[in-house]
Amino acid sequence: MEHRSIAIDGPAGAGKSTLARQLARKLGFLYVDTGAIYRTVALKTLKSGVAPSEKEKIVPLLDGLDIHMDYGPDGEQRMFLDGENVSKTIREHRVSDLTSQVSAMKEVRDFLLEFQRRQAREHNVVMDGRDIGTVVLPDADVKIFLTAAPEARARRRLLELEQRGQTADYETILHDIMDRDERDRSRAIAPLRQAEDAILLDTTNLNLEESLNAVLSLVKECIGL
Ligand code: DC
Repeated sequence: MEHRSIAIDGPAGAGKSTLARQLARKLGFLYVDTGAIYRTVALKTLKSGVAPSEKEKIVPLLDGLDIHMDYGPDGEQRMFLDGENVSKTIREHRVSDLTSQVSAMKEVRDFLLEFQRRQAREHNVVMDGRDIGTVVLPDADVKIFLTAAPEARARRRLLELEQRGQTADYETILHDIMDRDERDRSRAIAPLRQAEDAILLDTTNLNLEESLNAVLSLVKECIGL
């Protein structure tokens, strides 16, 4: 059976994961957070003591990589690395920056491409990331490019970290977000960019409920769900 797929791309903190998760719940689709998958690979390099610049050491790590994904009792996507639940660790600030560097590597992206496509072949999915509409699922039924001003995104990220009990500083987050955006947009392989057939949604002045309503009406317009 053909499955439906909704691709949501955009920079960090635009609200992708929250919106994608809620959209998936409303539609009864599987939510796939691809950033979490990249984060898990980055964590592997960290645990192995390999610096992102040591490309020749990262490639062999991929061969023996034991990554597994499942959904917990509350429907949350969980990531496992070498059998250990790393869902919390991958959200740490040090992993975010590293992920942006590791995910710029062609070998890493190629390695994860099939992993991501398989999810969409096997399930109806709402998948979020940076290159879902452009590379991973170019034939997605709906493509949304979510964005928001960097300051709004930094405030949201700060709140998110605080809610997870982590301490952080607004200026540092803003700086990191802008750095990360620049790196994600300017990398040679699968850079962050809006697919030609994606719909742009700017959430700077929208709260979560308004953003979700906007996304829902886009989905309804596109596939009548
Ligand atoms: O969405 P996030 O903040 O969890 O993503 C972490 C990093 O992973 C981000 O810097 C970009 C990268 N990423 C990517 O390159 N491609 C994806 N599909 C998802 C994330």
